[in-house]
Amino acid sequence: MDVYLDNAATTFPKPSIVPEKIYDYIINNGGTSGRGAYEKAMLADGLVYQTRKSLAKLFNHSDPKTVIFTSSVTESLNLALQGILKPGDHVVTSALEHNAVWRCLKTLERDRGISISIVPANSQGETKIEDVEAAIRPETRLIVFTHASNVLGTIQPIAAIGKLARSKNILFLVDAAQSAGVLPIDVQAQQIDLLAFTGHKSLLGPMGTGGLVVNCDADIHPLISGGTGGDSAYEYQPDYYPNHLEAGTLNVSGIIGLGAALAFLETEGLGNIRRKEDFLVAYALNALATVPNIELYGPRDSTKTVGVIPFNIAGELPEEVAYYLDQECHVMIRSGLHCAPSAHRLIGTIKRGTCRVGIGYFNETADIDALVNGLQSYIKENK
Ligand SMILES: Cc1ncc(COP(=O)(O)O)c(C=O)c1O
Repeated sequence: MDVYLDNAATTFPKPSIVPEKIYDYIINNGGTSGRGAYEKAMLADGLVYQTRKSLAKLFNHSDPKTVIFTSSVTESLNLALQGILKPGDHVVTSALEHNAVWRCLKTLERDRGISISIVPANSQGETKIEDVEAAIRPETRLIVFTHASNVLGTIQPIAAIGKLARSKNILFLVDAAQSAGVLPIDVQAQQIDLLAFTGHKSLLGPMGTGGLVVNCDADIHPLISGGTGGDSAYEYQPDYYPNHLEAGTLNVSGIIGLGAALAFLETEGLGNIRRKEDFLVAYALNALATVPNIELYGPRDSTKTVGVIPFNIAGELPEEVAYYLDQECHVMIRSGLHCAPSAHRLIGTIKRGTCRVGIGYFNETADIDALVNGLQSYIKENK
């Protein structure tokens, strides 16, 4: 039996309703959204709008029209950062960021003359609100923070940062790639101006879906220009939402799949999902601690993390451990550097990388047992 423990990269399996709805749309409808006055196109349009509404509800955002669809959280982050930052702007970010934030910021630093301050984190991936405050300058335009580290799993103090940013009139952008669908996110209560999310991780939707919730009136320059299905004689991108930031035919099938996933999440209940993942993380932390020569990184407290557990076996290469687990035990985990080099620096694994367990809603304790048994046999065979 295959054991999938790479849910931090992408969740698998998806709820069966996700492929069913996608199949149904492609076979029985197939119409585009926002571009046709015939019944099927309007039906497709309605389904896209329903997904916007479900996302707005999930994140407690008041206006579905300012939920922008993108192809990924990477695109959402680029849209926000490239669309807002101007020469001379200063940005505060964390030492935990994924390259989706970091490379975009470095490119803007080089090409557009922005400056960047990095809020330090300890080896557990914890950051302090005082350090965020200390990094703020008069020219700080935006704070961008990951909600949960994809290397260490550590949850960041998003509400406190939101409050601070709002009090200083600084825009606050959150990368919710590892948290949307498992941690509660409330853009109003947590004072998040821009929320970037992906559909294919804990939201349990298909790849190729993601978005940006725009909870502010900042002027965001579109990343791309093109057809929106309306006002076609106007020569620029319309200034109303969502069309202002959405050009070209949408990924209607993917968005419908995401809508189905959101309905599944609502039925299951976010609280239940979080409780199950929390239980599995605690179970895994205890079980992994019994493995000889294991080096576990990040908090040993499941309430401080999402379902991400990085580890190494002393003296062994993470790739070899992961390869053995896959080939000999049918257990799939991630290995290497997980696209967030500065987080690896915090734990001294920038050269070597780590193994990473990514726990998801469909995992069970038997999956963790299979992982631990696999590690035990790897160690026996490589003594
Ligand atoms: C924290 C974080 N940000 C951004 C991304 C990028 O996601 P995607 O490649 O789906 O755009 C990931 C994916 O691993 C992530 O974990």
